[in-house]
Amino acid sequence: MAKPSDTMKDLVGLCKRRGFIFQSSEIYGGINSCYDYGPMGIELKKNIKDAWWKSMVYERDDIEGIDASILMHPRVWEASGHVAGFTDPMIDCRESKNRYREDQLEVYVPTSGEGLMYAFPEGKPEAIAKKIKRARVELDAYEVKPLPDIDVSQYSRIVGPDTKEAGTLTEPRLFNLMFKTFMGPVESDANIVYLRPETAQGIFVNFHNVREASRQKLPFGIAQIGKAFRNEITPGNFIFRMREFEQMEMQFFVKPGTDDDWFDQWKQMRLDWYERVGITKEKLRFHKHADDALAHYAKAAFDIEYEFPFGWGELEGIHNRTDFDLASHAEYSKKNLQYYDQEAQEKYVPYVVETSTGVDRQILTSLCDAYTVDEENDRTVMSFHPRVAPMKAAVFPLVKKDGMPEVAHKIVADLRKDFRVFYDESGAVGRRYRRQDEIGTPYCFTVDTETLENGTVTVRERDSMAQERISQDKVLDYLQDRVV
Ligand code: GAP
Repeated sequence: MAKPSDTMKDLVGLCKRRGFIFQSSEIYGGINSCYDYGPMGIELKKNIKDAWWKSMVYERDDIEGIDASILMHPRVWEASGHVAGFTDPMIDCRESKNRYREDQLEVYVPTSGEGLMYAFPEGKPEAIAKKIKRARVELDAYEVKPLPDIDVSQYSRIVGPDTKEAGTLTEPRLFNLMFKTFMGPVESDANIVYLRPETAQGIFVNFHNVREASRQKLPFGIAQIGKAFRNEITPGNFIFRMREFEQMEMQFFVKPGTDDDWFDQWKQMRLDWYERVGITKEKLRFHKHADDALAHYAKAAFDIEYEFPFGWGELEGIHNRTDFDLASHAEYSKKNLQYYDQEAQEKYVPYVVETSTGVDRQILTSLCDAYTVDEENDRTVMSFHPRVAPMKAAVFPLVKKDGMPEVAHKIVADLRKDFRVFYDESGAVGRRYRRQDEIGTPYCFTVDTETLENGTVTVRERDSMAQERISQDKVLDYLQDRVV
């Protein structure tokens, strides 16, 4: 079986080769944690966003969409708690100049209580094994502790993750993850604005605008897809943790007291959604946030996690945000953000149940879940759910003569009104199938001699490689039944 690190390396290679994802600014050596989506990646991204938007906005009466601006009034981020509290404890290595999140380092502490300690980023067993071997220490003479459990007075005994000497790590400092810039020509503190670290605040500040414009009554939700920015200390694992990423967030406003029930409902609805985009059920699980690990705004929180090749990781957060945000914006803006409940004849600040996921994490999940090495048939297959597959079909003339290309072009022209399809007449048909398998095209239609005789074409299904013949006139219906 392939090692997780090999799987990620192969997947990253495929993403570049087949036009899913490129390193940003690659010709200049790249820029850390920023990525560009290529011709296939953008289709996958669009399909995932469309599936989410459909399930949130089109298929329900009680959720409206918005698209708020990225730059917002700086007071928004004071009210939301991000200026004061959106921080991570950061540690620098004076020698290597590398930077770590304090809570992501683990330390090997001698059980004897004396001697050097060794710090490593958590979940990096290969790095640990190598270093321990070099230091000639016996693993069982050590216990592993999270770095926050080590008193700073002991830091002089710690050998950093990428140094040989002890005592190079600085004390932890709080680091705000928001990107700052200046609005207008003057670079002064009065002109600071932030790139939004979450899309949610654009929803909260528009609560009354959307409610009044759409004449919604509680309970109802507002959905949004958009970019967010975080100056993460340790981005990584390809597009898992980036500094510029996209979120799909939905804030559901409910009457206080009904929030626990809505929270449970949204947990289940969001888990069910993953079936719709074809993610393997067994690779998904809930992770409950412990009470002492809740974000500053949350009363309860669950993550939906996916088992990536590098381990379980957060894919989506479902939070009960109570009335924290609306109440705080009411206080800072001095505007009344209460809701008048006509039925109950009372006013209150609504509670909010939030579902929040990263588009890029959804893409990584789809890529990892789809990636299949089919050794028996000597091929790599991206077995995407047809709903998210970037290319829905390919059409081939068996040979470049006898009128076959003309028939194939006609089929392509019909399909293109609804779907992204690919026409390919170069090389042996087997090679053409392999090329489509690698980008996950679910169906290939081939025009051959029989097509000219009786108007039927061959359809080949990607995963089973099974073939059948259907009428040339039924190709559009065939695809519509299977990929929408
Ligand atoms: N409004 C709530 C909120 O932003 P979060 O748990 O910080 O909550 C929600 O983020 C989701 O956004 C995560 O589950 C993840 O899918 C995505 N996300 C967060 N930080 C990310 C990053 N640096 N890179 C990519 N996706 C990220």
